[in-house]
Parts: sequence; structure tokens; C-alpha cells
Amino acid sequence: MLEIRDLKAGYGKAVIVDGVSLTVPTGAIVALLGGNGTGKSTTLKAICGLIDPMDGDVLLNGESLVRLGAPGVVKRGLCLVPQGKEAFAEMTVRENLLMGAYMHRANRGEVASRLEEVVTRFPRLAELATRRAGHLSGGERQLMALGRALMAKPRALLLDEPSAALSPRVVGEIGEAVMSLKEAGMTVLLVEQNVNFALKLAERLYVLRDGRIALERAVVGGDAGTDLKSYYFGVEE
Ligand SMILES: Nc1ncnc2c1ncn2[C@@H]1O[C@H](COP(=O)(O)OP(=O)(O)OP(=O)(O)O)[C@@H](O)[C@H]1O
Ligand SMILES: [Mg+2]
Repeated sequence: MLEIRDLKAGYGKAVIVDGVSLTVPTGAIVALLGGNGTGKSTTLKAICGLIDPMDGDVLLNGESLVRLGAPGVVKRGLCLVPQGKEAFAEMTVRENLLMGAYMHRANRGEVASRLEEVVTRFPRLAELATRRAGHLSGGERQLMALGRALMAKPRALLLDEPSAALSPRVVGEIGEAVMSLKEAGMTVLLVEQNVNFALKLAERLYVLRDGRIALERAVVGGDAGTDLKSYYFGVEE
């Protein structure tokens, strides 16, 4: 279980995330929705140790991840798949995937078996293995970003807008990839602006507004109540 308690985070003196609490049960997908600039990525950065929270706590299966730094958080089993599908453009897909297991580089056998596991899960990545990351389509790059995170063998994933800038067909494919991870027991915190995508995948939604949770809803049969969309799109106006 991933628990965020009263998380406060920002940059310098600016408080961007102001007391966010949410829970992702083990093996569940929970979505954090919100418009541009509401603090979604800042929340994820503070959870995974890219920035230190100003206050609050982040617990993975009861153990606090605060102030461990990003590598320490990855070691404990929590990985971020960043927004923008960042990649080493000049490196091949295979080399990019291997970067995800950087911390385990001393154990070559382990790295090789992880790579095998990842390309077995996403066979498209095996086909693309020797292609330069800079030549991938948006969907391929997103799949590679997921694969790279899996190389660290995480127990939980933070996904920052995986559906962004993809065609509807490719969004569907990424959705299936995320669902297959859940079926394999992964715990997922999904940050999204695409409400329909989040409704298809998540069992619970939180809406972030001005750095605070403004709404929380259970999703039942792909539906979270008629007020969700009007509320959420109201935020967008
Ligand atoms: N490195 C930074 N230094 C200072 N301010 C930042 C930094 N990164 C983000 N911010 C500010 O924090 C606020 C929230 O940004 P954040 O990236 O968390 O929003 P977001 O919800 O992820 O938005 P988007 O949907 O556009 O990705 C914005 O006002 C942004 O300008
Ligand atoms: Mg963002």
C-alpha cells in the first residue's frame, strides 16, 4: 500500500502542494486528476524523492520514503515514469531499458533476466530493441518509459500523464499495458488530465485543485458519478 499523508511540497519558499493525502491499496490503480499547473507532477516528485517534501509523509507498505532521495526510493520499490517520456535519444531502446537497472549494474545476470522479463511482457520493445530512442513514436516512447521503470523491479509505479499527446488508438494500447501491470499485482498511482482514460483504469479518483484534494470518488463500472466530469471540467475553465 502507498500512503501519502498531508504532503506539502514546492520550490524554494513557494508551496505548490498543500496538504495532499491519498491512499493506493496494494495492487490497485488510483488516479490523481487535475488541470495544468495544479501540482500533479510536483506531488509525484515529492513522493519519489526528486524533491524533499516540506511536510507530511510518504509510506510504502508502512515504511517512510521521506528524505531517502530518489535512488533510495527506487531501491525500496517505488519508480516514477516521468511526464514527457524522457529518454536518451541517441541511445537504443535496449540501452535505455538497461539504464532502468542502473542500480543493479554489478549483477549482470540479474539485469539480463530483468530485461528478458520486460521484453516478454511488452514484446514490442523486443522488436524495437536496436532502434534509437529518438526515432520512436510517442506511444513507443511511452511503452519504453514503462519498460525502463520495470527494469528496477518496482512494487509500485507513479505514472505522470502516460496518455498525453497520444492518438486515441495508442492511448488504448497504453491503457492495456498499464492494466496488464495491475493484473500482475503492481500498485499504481496514475496522474492524468484525461478523465475517460483514468475512469477506465482506476478504482478511485482524486481531483487536485490549487495543490489540495478537492474531490475524491470511488469508480464503479467506469463511472464516478455525474458530478465528476462537470466538476473537473469546471476546473479547466
Ligand atoms: N522546478 C520548478 N521550480 C519552480 N516552480 C515550479 C517548478 N516546477 C513546477 N513549478 C510550478 O509549480 C506549479 C505546479 O506545477 P506542476 O508541474 O506540479 O503542475 P502539473 O499539475 O503537473 O501541470 P501539467 O498538467 O501542466 O503537467 C506550477 O505553477 C509550476 O510553474
Ligand atoms: Mg505535470
